[in-house]
Amino acid sequence: MTFQAKKTLLDRIAFFCILSLLFVCSDALKTQRFTRHGGSFTSNKISVSYETFYFEQKIDHFGFLEDGTYKQRYLVADKYWHSPGGPILFYTGNEGDITWFCNNTGFMWDVAGELGAMLVFAEHRYYGESMPFGADSFSDSKHLNYLTAEQALADFAVLIQNLKHSRTGAQQSPVIAMGGSYGGMLAAWFRMKYPNMVVGALAASAPIWQFTEMVPCGDFYKVVTRDFAISGRNCDANIRASWKSISNLSATASGLAWLSEEFGLCTPLKNDKDVAVFKGWLQETWVNLAMVDYPYQADFLQPLPRWPIQAVCKYLTSDWSASDRQILHGVSQAVNLYYNYTGSSSCLNTSETATGNLGMMGWDYQACTEMVMPMCTDGVRDMFEPAEWNFQAFSDECHAMFGVRPRADWAGVVFGGKDISSHSNIIFSNGGLDPWSSGGVTHNLSDSLVAVLIPEGAHHLDLRSANDMDPPSVREARAVELSYFKKWIKQAQKMQSNAV
Ligand SMILES: *[C@@H]1O[C@H](CO)[C@@H](O)[C@H](O)[C@H]1NC(C)=O
Ligand SMILES: *[C@@H]1O[C@H](CO)[C@@H](O)[C@H](O)[C@H]1NC(C)=O
Ligand SMILES: *[C@@H]1O[C@H](CO)[C@@H](O)[C@H](O)[C@H]1NC(C)=O
Ligand SMILES: *[C@@H]1O[C@H](CO)[C@@H](O)[C@H](O)[C@H]1NC(C)=O
Ligand SMILES: *[C@@H]1O[C@H](CO)[C@@H](O)[C@H](O)[C@H]1NC(C)=O
Repeated sequence: MTFQAKKTLLDRIAFFCILSLLFVCSDALKTQRFTRHGGSFTSNKISVSYETFYFEQKIDHFGFLEDGTYKQRYLVADKYWHSPGGPILFYTGNEGDITWFCNNTGFMWDVAGELGAMLVFAEHRYYGESMPFGADSFSDSKHLNYLTAEQALADFAVLIQNLKHSRTGAQQSPVIAMGGSYGGMLAAWFRMKYPNMVVGALAASAPIWQFTEMVPCGDFYKVVTRDFAISGRNCDANIRASWKSISNLSATASGLAWLSEEFGLCTPLKNDKDVAVFKGWLQETWVNLAMVDYPYQADFLQPLPRWPIQAVCKYLTSDWSASDRQILHGVSQAVNLYYNYTGSSSCLNTSETATGNLGMMGWDYQACTEMVMPMCTDGVRDMFEPAEWNFQAFSDECHAMFGVRPRADWAGVVFGGKDISSHSNIIFSNGGLDPWSSGGVTHNLSDSLVAVLIPEGAHHLDLRSANDMDPPSVREARAVELSYFKKWIKQAQKMQSNAV
């Protein structure tokens, strides 16, 4: 079967890839000054240099009929490692090319020296170069069948066991899992499922509760709305009004022409379907801005100023007496700041949201199977047009695209749901500006299941390299995280010496 079905619903909820790609691409481009040679470059103060390896993994860890193997890519940086026995910081790769995460998880590089740690970045199957069936991996649902978080976690466990056996000096090394976003969910789940492999985990911006019936489906968009509400007078109100204004103008051919012209769209809006796509594109733009509302200028696929929401809100100040065109003129200026900051876009394309399409297919499949994350809006507590969560419609779309149907309740069964307090040694960090914090663990569950809050933080700001413009809250968060790493390492070493 082929994947060509329309996937509007999926696009509405499958932001994960978008956010990771934004995050990674952004930093990848930001490390402007890097001097390439082999696998190394210098970013700010730290020198990022690693070796690439491939490990032979079972395609299916859980059944015995499919006995094939594939090559999983992983990266190792042992420049700072104290051998024997120095700790290993293990990045549980998420939905993208692992070199992106390696190049852009500056925090790990920043602490490696102090901990005497080896850094390992393991690629998630079906992303980057780690393709279980090579070029056929995405060809049909049979080949996609082994794309699950459970299989990925098993890959990580087998890889760690092998590293410990094969690397001289690593036998006694305590391993700490870490990751951001879906990678953070994997880090947390990894500690829960394989406490024999890792002494603790840092789960940054990991919405492990964004699943069916764990958090209200509207919370995500409430956070997005709050970000705009606190960033400028009338800002959220203008966006809330803009949908009706678009509908009003779309009623006539001249209105459609005006909209297309005002927004500099590459392809003029012609019908209701185009207008729906246009609205969806705007909504996604506001969400993306909320995820990357960072305190310093960051270059995404296109550069953005510091605190980009405040910057766009300068255009969204119309009051109640404004006309539809006045409101939408503001919106078009705001959107232009996002897509045309350098002034080099000749037109705006509503099929593109600056995120590229790499890795998207893999995440779409995951969203269509295990990672069912209900989202909804009501237009009252959020600034979007009301849209209910419709599992059946979502399921039908998935079926049309991949020939499989999502299992809405599975995540709650297999990953512990909200009942995880019997686990230990996991830090859940969340940014107050990050919409994904709505599905995150934001209160302490026990002495060793710790929630770290970063009120001024967007999506896993703490994993990025230290920056002069970092707010104090993220500096403190990183210090707390580092102190837990040290504590876990000490605990592990103590247990080892007791065992001897
Ligand atoms: C990461 O850095 C390495 C070394 O400079 C480079 O070869 C690779 O292309 C980078 N990856 C990405 C996705 O930027
Ligand atoms: C849209 O059209 C209606 C009816 O003409 C009008 O009352 C309203 O002010 C217009 N704009 C908005 C944002 O509702
Ligand atoms: C992008 O900015 C440039 C420079 O301000 C402008 O000429 C161009 O029309 C803008 N593009 C769009 C699509 O508005
Ligand atoms: C808009 O983007 C889509 C997806 O990248 C592309 O296929 C299409 O050609 C683009 N349209 C224009 C007019 O640039
Ligand atoms: C959880 O506990 C830690 C350690 O006591 C503390 O630093 C942190 O602020 C607490 N988190 C929350 C959300 O209260």
